[in-house]
Amino acid sequence: MYDQYARGRFAAGVGTETSKEIDLGLFSSAAPLTKPDGLMLRQAQMQDADALYDLVAACPPLDLNSRYAYLLLCLHHAETCVVAIQDEQLVGAVTAYIPPTQTDTLFVWQLAVAPEMRGKRVGRRMLEFLLDTCLHRRKLRWLETTISPSNTASQRLFTRFSLEHNVGCTVTSLFSPGDFGDSNHEEEQLYRIGPWTRKH
Ligand SMILES: CC(C)(COP(=O)(O)OP(=O)(O)OC[C@H]1O[C@@H](n2cnc3c(N)ncnc32)[C@H](O)[C@@H]1OP(=O)(O)O)[C@@H](O)C(=O)NCCC(=O)NCCS
Repeated sequence: MYDQYARGRFAAGVGTETSKEIDLGLFSSAAPLTKPDGLMLRQAQMQDADALYDLVAACPPLDLNSRYAYLLLCLHHAETCVVAIQDEQLVGAVTAYIPPTQTDTLFVWQLAVAPEMRGKRVGRRMLEFLLDTCLHRRKLRWLETTISPSNTASQRLFTRFSLEHNVGCTVTSLFSPGDFGDSNHEEEQLYRIGPWTRKH
């Protein structure tokens, strides 16, 4: 909570202007959750950005963004980003945001689990955390992400997530290889999961 408060003051660029902190929505932060195996899930903090960069770098085929981009995500979108911590190390993260023109949707940008932690449902547990602390809390109806056709682990993770919550999942093409110029990037397919209602 102190970090959230300190960051709010930093983000607003002010000393004690409480109204600006409320405008930033920093008082709706969710409590961390510690699982029986010691895995701690919590919303991102600005201090996570450095480790987040290193985690994504270790998780191909994810595109590695700049350190500055991860700082902005952890600053401006902290409440829609989740990190997983084990033994004080960042071992998983989901970066997500609510698109300004699609305010009923949580868009998952990147999902990463450290190679040595895979297969322990860290990815699934981070999605469940986002569902409870963000999607339901904000009454959002859709969760979206893009996945490339060759990424079977991610496809399986998201399709099982939708199946087990009994919500729909449609897949359409969003970005073609040509949209990425000559970078030899695969197609990115849009997974649109929902609609979510309170009963899910
Ligand atoms: C995709 C990724 C996040 C999965 O994380 P994870 O913590 O290992 O996944 P989970 O243990 O939560 O598994 C959830 C489900 O996904 C599926 N899954 C996970 N890894 C899988 C794999 N390698 N092959 C097939 N299915 C897989 C399983 O069906 C699993 O369900 P189950 O437990 O009922 O069997 C992880 O492999 C990763 O970081 N990959 C590199 C980065 C990446 O591709 N990110 C996604 C970009 S869209």
